[in-house]
Amino acid sequence: MPYAHITGWGMSVPEQVLTNDDISKMVETNDAWIRERTGIQERHIARDNQFPSTLGVEASIKALKIANLRPTDLDLIICSTSSPEYIFPATACLIQDQLGATKAGAFDLSAACTGFIYALNMGAQAIRSGSIKSALVIGSETLSRFVNWKDRSTCILFGDGAGAFVLQASEQPGGVLSAVMHSDGSGSDLLTIAGGGSRHPSSESTVLDGKHYIQMDGNEVFRFATRVMASATEEVLVCAGLTIDQVQWIVPHQANIRIIKAAARGLKLPMERYIVNLEHYGNTSTASIPIAMVEAVEKGQIKPGEKLVMVGFGAGLTWGALAAEWTGPIPSKGHVRPEQYRFFARVRSVVRRALRFIEGLLYRREL
Ligand code: COA
Repeated sequence: MPYAHITGWGMSVPEQVLTNDDISKMVETNDAWIRERTGIQERHIARDNQFPSTLGVEASIKALKIANLRPTDLDLIICSTSSPEYIFPATACLIQDQLGATKAGAFDLSAACTGFIYALNMGAQAIRSGSIKSALVIGSETLSRFVNWKDRSTCILFGDGAGAFVLQASEQPGGVLSAVMHSDGSGSDLLTIAGGGSRHPSSESTVLDGKHYIQMDGNEVFRFATRVMASATEEVLVCAGLTIDQVQWIVPHQANIRIIKAAARGLKLPMERYIVNLEHYGNTSTASIPIAMVEAVEKGQIKPGEKLVMVGFGAGLTWGALAAEWTGPIPSKGHVRPEQYRFFARVRSVVRRALRFIEGLLYRREL
């Protein structure tokens, strides 16, 4: 049975930064309160022309470059997102088209902030089963579009960004070791964007009621998160047959420093074992774990051969954890430049649209 290794990684955040001081000009809050209660100092906010696919493509090209893989080598693209560009089509399909990943199947996965763990596990399981050889797993969000900038209890938390991993099959032991996924829909009302779906289709009244905004019971979510972060970590270690001492790093969902500290206390681990970068990005939802991982790898914190646990929670409610051994790129010949495929991908997309148009005209003539 092949192993699923993480062989490429990349991240992308919008250049526009919103500091706590900036937010204090919009709502009744201040930098000291936000830092003390969340640990967040600033977050990145997408411009009008930046979308989950834009950020997702940028992160993916970096990941493919490190993996030395062409977009056309990919068998599968999974995009985890809670801020998809449309209800349908899937954001993953937009990314597939922009990358020129002509062979890949593509779908979105919706498990809120736990989504990247779910998606990575799904990609890894498809490789482990032998049905595919490579997968691109992306977490991408522009949740700022759904933030009510008059609600001080939520607008301080969220930021935009994307992270992407390439998964590849290898006979070498390692890569994704185990994963656990959980849900409890009885808490579905605790964190939600209620409007725009089929229960509350967009209308004047959904907009007047603010149903298109993120609504959250912060205290309940906080309590739930502190309960599950430590237990999911312990559970995934048992599945992997590892003890906590055999793991060098815990990479938690970057929601609130107090939640991460509570989880560390629960496991009696020093904070030095936790990868934390929420001060600069806020909660980027499903993108937070890959963004934290990419930064830690680039800084030389996470090294090949080390073992780690990614652990997250979010709306749904969902929570989960994934244990992995960090290996790095599989040595390969040649030098691939995935960014060059973007031009060809654009041409291909235009040509396919034109052909579809001509085909439509011919088909109508035949009828
Ligand atoms: N600035 C200043 N005061 C604020 C504030 C802000 N941005 N937001 C809330 N407050 C006030 C409240 O109105 C309340 O005032 P009151 O005592 O006069 O009523 C007081 O601060 C305490 O509010 P509380 O909600 O208990 O604060 P908290 O310490 O629990 O922090 C959150 C609030 C939202 C930061 C915290 O509950 C949290 O992080 N929850 C988890 C959210 C999360 O992770 N969501 C994403 C899941 S993926």
